[in-house]
Amino acid sequence: MTSQKLKIAPSILGADLGCLLNEVKKVEKDADLLHIDVMDGHFVPNITFGLNVVKSLKGKVNLPFDVHLMVEEPERWIEAFAEVGCEFISFHIEATVHPGRLINYIREKGSRVGIALNPATPECLLNYILPRVDMILVMTVNPGFGGQDFLPEVLPKIRTISRSAEKEGVDIDIAVDGGINEVTAEKVVKEGANVLVMGSYIFKSPDPGKLIVNLKNKLSNRGFKRRK
Ligand code: DX5
Ligand code: ZN
Repeated sequence: MTSQKLKIAPSILGADLGCLLNEVKKVEKDADLLHIDVMDGHFVPNITFGLNVVKSLKGKVNLPFDVHLMVEEPERWIEAFAEVGCEFISFHIEATVHPGRLINYIREKGSRVGIALNPATPECLLNYILPRVDMILVMTVNPGFGGQDFLPEVLPKIRTISRSAEKEGVDIDIAVDGGINEVTAEKVVKEGANVLVMGSYIFKSPDPGKLIVNLKNKLSNRGFKRRK
């Protein structure tokens, strides 16, 4: 049985980027990971921030960095993000024909490995590689933008991945990303997700730290437990 704890990963894409460090400081104490969306304008139709922004934040923020690469040819960027000390690096399985090679490469460089799946990508692509990763990042919107609506059709996929992880005895994080708020959080947690990536919901709140604490309390009071 997997036993990962519930984690909240604020996504800085939802923050006011004009005062990014101030925004991150609002969640530093209560969050578990800092989610950083790197987009290249090719894999997704948007461009965000890259290595320089991550370098500037590293050392100023006391949270593990969870880099979500939404880029073509992710292999080109892994070494650089790992060298900066990013604790998790996730690549999209749709962006490579050699996921196994990339998993090894990220590990060699000293980071933990995440694999992201677009909403229309089937979970069977994780066959044979699930025991070798640390996190599966299930996209609950089509990636590229913050503030989109959660896609409920992805719920069964979360459950299937969670069951496969239990069956194979692998203790991984199951993260969800896109349209997560108080209502959708409860749904995904019921299906077995334990890492909630949240952008606009957290950073639009007048008190992001308090929101995180309240959400964690609410979900644990409801007996948060992975579904079997
Ligand atoms: C979307 C990004 C998400 C985004 C989520 O492509 O991967 O991390 O920041 O934003 P919200 O929580 O606003 O949907
Ligand atoms: Zn993301």
